[in-house]
Order: sequence, then structure tokens, then C-alpha cells
Amino acid sequence: MAPRHFLTLLDLSTEELEYLIARSITMKQRLKDNGPEYAPLKRRTMAMIFEKSSTRTRVSFETGMAQLGGHALFLSSRDTQLGRGEPIGDTARVLSEMVDLVMIRTFSHAGLDTFAQTSSIPVINALSDDYHPCQLLADIQTWTECHGPVAGKTAVWVGDGNNMCNSWINAARRFDFNLRIACPEGYDPDPALLEAAGDCVTIVRDPMAAAAGADLVTTDVWASMGQESEQASREAAFHGFQVTEAMLDAASSEVIFLHCLPAHRGEEISETLLDDPRAVVWQEAGNRLHAQKALIEFLLLGRIDD
Ligand code: CP
Ligand code: NVA
Repeated sequence: MAPRHFLTLLDLSTEELEYLIARSITMKQRLKDNGPEYAPLKRRTMAMIFEKSSTRTRVSFETGMAQLGGHALFLSSRDTQLGRGEPIGDTARVLSEMVDLVMIRTFSHAGLDTFAQTSSIPVINALSDDYHPCQLLADIQTWTECHGPVAGKTAVWVGDGNNMCNSWINAARRFDFNLRIACPEGYDPDPALLEAAGDCVTIVRDPMAAAAGADLVTTDVWASMGQESEQASREAAFHGFQVTEAMLDAASSEVIFLHCLPAHRGEEISETLLDDPRAVVWQEAGNRLHAQKALIEFLLLGRIDD
């Protein structure tokens, strides 16, 4: 049987994604109550390929795998044959012979697709240039923890139409909430994704207008990994798109602010925004651990309803 992969949120049904959010909340509570005693993945191994830097993703996957009783293998492209040109498909075949699961942080989403097509074990997208679906699991969990089911609510994305924005679009489709995207012209998200999303996603150029009455506001860096040379031109293009306390004041009285982190204070957010009680970014970052554990468990063991 072909393995299940998690390359974008659309690889799972709404029901499966809702299961993962609920399972992650359960696993978080049980870890708090009982410690890491649930360890069903004894002697199972996950390879983690990193072609870009990471703090949260590496730590959450590695810790999650250890807590579940398994082992995670950190593979930097700088130190493996991938970095010396071994074809990605060959690497996928080799890892399929040895480990149970692969997680990849890479540049090209097409390369990730190639890897997954060649792999006979599940592959997780831990961020590509186009998507960051693992982060959305933690983000939807955090939103749910704060204010219950997200269906019918309104989220606002401010800033670059990047990999995180594309994943928010997919999340709006799957979890049935409204998404307003405030991005400067020339930095729109993938038009095909926008078209597929239909009425639940709208572009609103003015960030203050987009934030009005919203239940959630989120943003990300203006220059993603791989775009460092565009930093200056992006700073100019995103002038006026900084998320501020005033923007949250225009939103619902229950609004929360999320940021996948790392954040740049004074650029995409005000110097003090992360100190505002409406910012729940540390809870969001911590939820990466629980979301990753639920995802690993689902891909290796299937649905567990206990
Ligand atoms: N949010 C996120 O993916 O963080 P890292 O780049 O530190 O993994
Ligand atoms: N958009 C950012 C997200 C980092 C977690 C990047 O790709 O660098």
C-alpha cells in the first residue's frame, strides 16, 4: 500500500485534520498529567533532513520522537551526500530501506514531491519554499485552545504571500474559516491556491481594514529563508504592513495574535507586540511538540481513539 505523506494540509481530509488537532490537545494534557510514559514507537526511527536552518521544527520533531519511544536522526544537507549532488530520489530509496519515516525541510516543493513519489515510507514537509503545513497544525491547535472551534471565524494574514500564507489558505479551506490576506501588490500568494479556495479567502490591501473585527491576526518575516538578498527591497515594499497593537485594537475584543517565529521586532511586528497579552506565540511554539507527536503517531500507527 502506498504510504500517506503530509506535504500540504490538503493531503489530509478535514476529518483527519480535526482528529489531529484533538489528538494533539489530548497528548499535551496527558504529557502534563503523566509525563512522557506513552511510548508506542520503540525502535522506530525518523530521518530529519534539513537544507535550511531550524530551531522549533528540529526540537519539536526530535523531542517528540524521543518522547514516543523512538529515535530521530538529524541529517544536514551540508554533511550528507545530498549536499554533494546525490539525486533526491536515490536518497528517498535508501532511507526507505532503513528508517520508518522521513521529515524534510527544503527549498523546492517540486523536489519534495519527487522525494515523496519515490519513498515507500511516509514523508513530512517540515517547510518548503511553498508550504509549512506542520506549523498550521500548531496554529489551529492554539486558536482552538483559546477560543474553541475555528469554523466560521475570521483570520487575517498580514505581510508576504509566502509559504506560511499558502498554508493558511489551505487551512481556511479545510477548517472552514474566513481568511483575509493583507499583502502589498506584487507579494500575493499563489493565485491557483486563491482560486481553489474560493469565497473563504479574500485579498484586502489595507491591513487596518483587514483586521477590523477579526478573531485572529498573524504574520511572518518579510524575507524568508533563501530571500536574504531581497531584505532591503522587501523592507521598502512592506512599509505600512507592520502588525501593531493598534491593529489588534481594531480587531475583535477576543483577538489572538500568532507568529510562527522567528520574529523580527521592529519589522513585521512592533517592538512590543510579543509582550501584549493577545500574543500567544509561546503557547503556539510549544504546541509544535504536541502537533508533531500527533502527526508522527498518525502516519506510523493510524488513528488512535483512546
Ligand atoms: N516556525 C518554525 O518553523 O521555526 P523554525 O524555523 O525554528 O523551525
Ligand atoms: N516564511 C519563513 C518561515 C520560517 C519558519 C521562511 O520560510 O523562512
